[in-house]
Formats: sequence, C-alpha cells, structure tokens
Amino acid sequence: MAQKLIAQKLAQIGQSGVLRFYDKLDMEERERLLGQLDALDLGMIVNLIETQVKVKAPLALPTDIQPVTTYPRAPRGDQKEHYAKAFARGEELLRQGKVAAFLVAGGQGTRLGYDGPKGEYPVSPVMNKPLFQLFAEQLLGNARTYGKTIPWYIMTSDANDSATRAFFQRHRHFGYDEKDVFFFQQGMMPAFSLTGEMLLAEKDSLALSPDGHGGSLRALMKSGALADMKRRGVEHLSYFQVDNPLVHCMDARFLGLHDLSGSEMSSKTVGKAHALEKVGNFCMADGKVQVIEYSDLPEALAKSTNADGTLRFNAGSIAIHALRVSFIERLNAGGDLNLPWHRAEKKVPFVDANGKTVKPDAPNAVKLEQFVFDAIPLAENAIVYETDRAEEFSPVKNAEGADSPTTCRRDQVLRAARWLEAAGIDVPKLNDAPDCNLEISPLYAVSKAQLVERKPRVPAINSGQSVYLEK
Ligand code: UD1
Repeated sequence: MAQKLIAQKLAQIGQSGVLRFYDKLDMEERERLLGQLDALDLGMIVNLIETQVKVKAPLALPTDIQPVTTYPRAPRGDQKEHYAKAFARGEELLRQGKVAAFLVAGGQGTRLGYDGPKGEYPVSPVMNKPLFQLFAEQLLGNARTYGKTIPWYIMTSDANDSATRAFFQRHRHFGYDEKDVFFFQQGMMPAFSLTGEMLLAEKDSLALSPDGHGGSLRALMKSGALADMKRRGVEHLSYFQVDNPLVHCMDARFLGLHDLSGSEMSSKTVGKAHALEKVGNFCMADGKVQVIEYSDLPEALAKSTNADGTLRFNAGSIAIHALRVSFIERLNAGGDLNLPWHRAEKKVPFVDANGKTVKPDAPNAVKLEQFVFDAIPLAENAIVYETDRAEEFSPVKNAEGADSPTTCRRDQVLRAARWLEAAGIDVPKLNDAPDCNLEISPLYAVSKAQLVERKPRVPAINSGQSVYLEK
C-alpha cells in the first residue's frame, strides 16, 4: 500500500502518531515502517482499541462452569474395546500419512531468559540436545515405526523466524528431509498505550509482538500450510508447544479417540499439581468444553473440592491437542477467526513524541493475544483425554524453580528410569530416585512399549554413571 493511503487510513483512525518521524527516516527505514503498518488489519485494530484497549472489558466468564468428563488414561471395563479400536485407528492414520506434527514456537520465552528461539535450548540430561532436536528425533522415530513420513509444520514469529530456520539449517534439520519441514510465521500485533495509541519501539518500527498461539489457526491458512496439508492428504494435526520435551508428539490412542469420536479438536489433560497451578482448566462451560486460564478461574472454584477431598476442577491443560484440518478451514471460512482477544498490561519500552526511548518501570501498554484453546468450544464433539504427567509433561518455562531446566532434566531421567526398569534393567537408586544420569534417544525408542520390545542390552549401571541409549 502506498504511503499516502496508509497515512490517510491512520489519520482516519487517529493513529497518525506512528508516522511522526517519517519525514526524517531514510528510504530503508520508511519501507520498514510502512511494511509493518501494511501487514496490520487497521479496520480490526480500530475496533479492538475501542473494545479491548481503552476499556478493561470484564472477562465474560460463562455462567455455568462445571467439571468436564474426560476419557481416563486407564480405560474402564466398558471402554476397553473402544480404546483398543482407537489405538488401531490411530496407528492406521499414522501408517496412511494422515497426521502431521504442528509445533508452535513463535513465543518470546522471556521468562526463561534465553536469548534466542526457545527450541534451541539444550535440555536433554546426558547429551544436552536442544528441544528442537528432541522433537525431530521423536517424529523420525515415529515415522520409522509407521513407515510413513510425518510432515512437520513449525510456527515461528517475526521475532525468531530467521534464527529458527538458520538453526535447523546448521543442524541439517536433525535428519529430517528439508522438504517435509514447513516453517511459517504467525501474525504480529502492536502494543498500545493505555489510551489506545500504537507505540513505536524505534522511530522506524512499531512495538510489535506475536498475536498469541491462537494466531496459528489464521497463519496456517494464510501461509499456505493448510493447502500443503491437503496436497499431502493430511487430515489431522498433532499440536504441541516448544517447551515440553516429554510430549508424545504422536500418540496413536489419543489420535484414534479423537478421530473415532468425530471430534474437531481434542485435548490432553493431567491432574493438577495443586489447586492454583498455573495451567489452564478444562471445564464444561455453558454446555461446551472450554479452557479457563488459571488467572481467570475464580479462586473459590479452583479450590472447591468433591466429597472425597479431591479437586472438582482438576483437569489441567498441558496444551497438547489434535485438530482436524477441516476444522481449521471452517474457522477461517468466515474471513477472520472468531476467537476472543486476551488483554494484558505490560511494561513496553517505547519512543516518545520527542524521539526519546522510555523504559517504563510500571505497566504502560496493552498487548492483545488470541489463544488456541479458545477454539475448543467452537469444535464439534470436543473430547478431553487424561494422560500421565510424569510420562508426558515437564515444561521448561522458568530459569529456576518449578518448570525449569532442572526439574525438566530430572523428569526426563525419572521417565527413562521407569522405561528401563520396565525392560528389566536395574537402575541404581538413592532415596528412591535414580542415582545416575539417563537418556534414551527417541531414535532408540519413542515409548516405554517400544523400549521393552527392543530388549535393550545395557551393561550394569553404576551409581553416578551417565548412560545414553542411541539409535
Ligand atoms: C500455556 C497455556 C496454559 C497451559 C500451559 C501448559 C496459554 C495462555 N496458556 O501457558 O493453559 O496450561 O501452557 O504448559 O497459552 N506461542 C506462540 N506464539 C505466541 C505465544 C506463544 O507460538 O504468540 C507458543 C510458545 O512458543 C510456546 C506456547 O505457545 O510454545 C506457550 O506459550 P506461553 O506463553 O509460554 O504459555 P504459558 O503461559 O506457559
């Protein structure tokens, strides 16, 4: 769009301030700023400013919030047959190449304090493999098991796209065929002052941040990723986040339950660590399955218990989903995604009217994001399946404490120990915990069952030893 047209549009919506340094910019700088503005849907933004930025719209909590019914990890007697069918169906989908992997890695990872794409973070206990490598090897291990390539869609954002691609190039895509890895960028949203002006990060640049993982559902369509899936005959996406190396990237039983129930979007849950754990809560809200974020679920409900003392709202979200490709198409059919925006007040450095950079020490800006789990209530037949936290969830979110590299490495070792013990291998213990460092390459086994099947021959493990099972 030409500069004049953009200037006119900005004037109409009272946002000309972002062009206040335009005349003093060189050509390249002007192009950068105009490019950023051109990528925004200014019509939508003006609406959001009035409804979400200038006012703190109270969160519309559903009126009737009930616990959700889940598919248990261990099937009840009457479910055994269905679970067996589901497992077979999931394996069939994988053998037919109808499932692709979908990793969202566009976030900024500020809490971890790692300067670069989070997927580069070295996290495995013995080999220090980065998160991206662990996912790649797991997908390759599954592809080998099912005899079919698993296309891999990776969402980045403007903040980390080139660094992510370069990392994969440098590591030869960790053994993946380059043509089967599809990178695409999510959208960006400007930060707004509390009175609704778009903020500049530099004189030639808006203060932009990723539009939330919900933006992935729009970006899949816009980027051509959906078209690529259809060309390949992919019908389902297995969705996971970049921070959880324990995730089972492909889970035949979960995928089968999802498919057989006609669900458009399915989710995995684990019992919460405690009432106020910082995870989303699966609920039955106004008759629909829905995730209510920890920050939004009223504390009284979060703490409420059943007669036996267990938590009523115990279904924590670990952000693992299965999505039908046709559902994502349907969501985009109306022009734009009909997902709510979540408002957060943050400290955002900005260039003021005098051209000075201000580093605020209190929240000065509003950021808006969409969340992928807000698509669940729009899905037909959404199901929630329980998995085991120790087996499948230990994210790296913080530099220290809970959900940190230390806890994540510990949980990887604990899982490896359980798998080895199931295969009949003795693991030295100290105070009940493994007294050694263990790592099983996903290229060796992607699951406990596969490890047991391989009948590993491991020399006796000594206390304090590091053991790595390769290919
Ligand atoms: C998230 C979920 C929470 C869930 C928990 C499980 C939200 C708001 N909450 O919390 O319900 O229980 O994970 O670990 O998501 N991302 C993008 N683009 C963005 C923003 C994020 O790709 O614009 C990606 C990140 O790279 C990461 C994932 O989404 O892979 C999670 O983002 P993060 O903001 O860390 O979510 P949490 O607050 O940890």
